[in-house]
Amino acid sequence: MPGKKDTDPKRGPLSLFVILIAATVVAVTGTLLQYRHFVGATEDSLKFQALGIAVSLEASLKNRDLSRDAAAGNLFRDIVTGGRWERIAFLALYDGSGTTLLHSNEHLIGRRIEDPAITSVAASGMPVFGYTTLGTGERVFVLNFPVHIRADERILRLALHPYPAERAVRRAQLQAASILAVIMLLWIMGYFLMRAVKRSEELKKTMAERERLALLGEMSSVLAHEIRNPLGSIKGFAQYLLERSAAQRGEDDSAMTGEYLGVIVAESERLETLTEDLLLYAKPVEVRLQTFSVRDLAEEVIASLRSSPAEGSGAAVHPFVSPGLMLTSDRDKLKQVLLNVVQNAMDAAGENGRVEVRAGLSDAPGRGRTFITVEDNGCGMDPALQARALSPFFTTKTRGTGLGLAIVDKLVQALGGSVVIRSTAQQGTTVEITLPGGTMHA
Ligand SMILES: Nc1ncnc2c1ncn2[C@@H]1O[C@H](COP(=O)(O)OP(=O)(O)O)[C@@H](O)[C@H]1O
Ligand SMILES: [Mg+2]
Repeated sequence: MPGKKDTDPKRGPLSLFVILIAATVVAVTGTLLQYRHFVGATEDSLKFQALGIAVSLEASLKNRDLSRDAAAGNLFRDIVTGGRWERIAFLALYDGSGTTLLHSNEHLIGRRIEDPAITSVAASGMPVFGYTTLGTGERVFVLNFPVHIRADERILRLALHPYPAERAVRRAQLQAASILAVIMLLWIMGYFLMRAVKRSEELKKTMAERERLALLGEMSSVLAHEIRNPLGSIKGFAQYLLERSAAQRGEDDSAMTGEYLGVIVAESERLETLTEDLLLYAKPVEVRLQTFSVRDLAEEVIASLRSSPAEGSGAAVHPFVSPGLMLTSDRDKLKQVLLNVVQNAMDAAGENGRVEVRAGLSDAPGRGRTFITVEDNGCGMDPALQARALSPFFTTKTRGTGLGLAIVDKLVQALGGSVVIRSTAQQGTTVEITLPGGTMHA
């Protein structure tokens, strides 16, 4: 196996993710802080305005005799409607017990109110700020301010419309919302970017793998061709000598010679299988379609595996294929595929194992498809082994080439089908081949 040197494909998307998170944290906290600062600042400006008005009102009321001033009730109303301070919602003056002495709304003069703010200002002499809701439903900013009028301690209540400030706050909210929207957009873009990066990474990997396999195929084909001819001579002459040594029984060393020659013939045959597999794997696949009975094919495959004692492991192979199943595909290629898969199943199942070959029309909706499954109760594969089983030259057998499943995969793909392997270690394996087409005749 070649060394795995490729850089971690997860690193690109990961760093992008980290950058996105950092940008989000910075932007969100920045926006939040700015928003809070802004809200605080607009409230401060309301406070200062209210204090300014209160101080100047105190100055003009200081020496006034409110009880004698007949028009006093109108004084506050005039201020509110006069437009000098256009943001005043209402004005009121209370004594320490909460009795209304003056009010911009004359109807309220003389009423007593219970308000902790008034009590607090009366007790401490410190201004108190807050909000209250008017009868109209409007929320207004309120200042309760201690004033001295002719040596009497009074409390001036001043309500301001906060709408310019609220408009500013709303603008800040809008700004925050748009920043959040931009961040969200960035996340969406980041998501798609990450997906694209991942896809291109995968594509690169499959391309590299394909290139590697193509090169491997070329090399194999050259090698196989070069080996085939000398191998044929070696095997031929060894067979010839074997026959001759058998004919000349009687000489002392003929038994030994015969055994050695037998080894040469067997090993040559093994090399022959390897070169055939190599060529099969390396050669481009030419598909020749014909319509045939799947059951006949399965029986042919099983018979041919049973008849070659060198490969037979003794496992019992049972076909369960309806005689009416007809398939249009490349019969020779499919036979090659089944030979490899059933051989693997027999190898895995061992002496007393059992292999079942099934085929039928898959009941997935849409176009017709034929499935062929080969199930064994053999040694099975763990997930790591299974992940490598299709790779060329991967084998766990002392005399295996590791090309069987690679050829299966290649041929089935050429036939427009797919191979799925389900396996559990120590329990068995099912190889499912799905091919396009297929009909059932009664
Ligand atoms: N039915 C099976 N049960 C268990 N292991 C299997 C099965 N089929 C394939 N394998 C595993 O996959 C490997 C590769 O199979 P294959 O490509 O046919 O090569 P080979 O048969 O020459 O080893 C085998 O060596 C074996 O470890
Ligand atoms: Mg095999």
